[in-house]
Amino acid sequence: MADVKFYSGENVPLEMHKVRIVQKLNLQPIERRLEAINEAGQNTFLLRNQDVFMDMLTDSGVNAMSDRQQAAMLVADDSYAGSETFTRLENKIEEIFGTKYFLPAHQGRACENIISQVYVKEGSVVPMNYHFTTTQAHISLNGGRVEEVYLDEALEITSDNLFKGNMDIAKLRDVIEKNGAENIPFVRIETGTNLIGGQPHSLENMHEVRKVCDEYGIMLVLDAS
Ligand SMILES: Cc1ncc(COP(=O)(O)O)c(C=O)c1O
Repeated sequence: MADVKFYSGENVPLEMHKVRIVQKLNLQPIERRLEAINEAGQNTFLLRNQDVFMDMLTDSGVNAMSDRQQAAMLVADDSYAGSETFTRLENKIEEIFGTKYFLPAHQGRACENIISQVYVKEGSVVPMNYHFTTTQAHISLNGGRVEEVYLDEALEITSDNLFKGNMDIAKLRDVIEKNGAENIPFVRIETGTNLIGGQPHSLENMHEVRKVCDEYGIMLVLDAS
């Protein structure tokens, strides 16, 4: 996004790319769409795509790729072992995050599955600012449960608090004290709390959460998707 000054002096935010791929859409009559959503039991996951005109179920893996992303796929070195592409990724991650080891995964839910299988046990409690559907599913599948520690203001639609995704630090401490740090495999903070309107947390709040985690020796997991 670029801030471009118009001849009139006005600053206009402009998307500096053009979209060149066109996918045909189907627009069913309203009667058919109503029938389809009823047949699906109001469950958008059970709809057939041909009955959907504007798909807002998720942006996960369904948005357009840039020309550079597509080109990178063609020049990627996908050799079975020792791939140059992997080495480039490894170097970049070390440069940005300073971490030597990392585990690439194809999707968020795969990461959740790995983290939950490794760390969550029967009776585990995972505090978080707000749950995400697949995250909660993986935690419960492994015998754990989620405790949400969001601000009271988080669900207030008219609040103009910029960081309604913040964790309530007092509630977080309370959950840790009540359940015992040994039963908390990790604290999870979601940057854009999807299920409560995409509200963000502040960096300051993340630092505070980190401090509490360090105090109790608990791992902090950032879901930055
Ligand atoms: C906060 C959050 N966590 C996890 C996921 C799961 O990611 P994926 O759809 O890549 O499996 C999503 C997907 O939208 C998400 O928004």
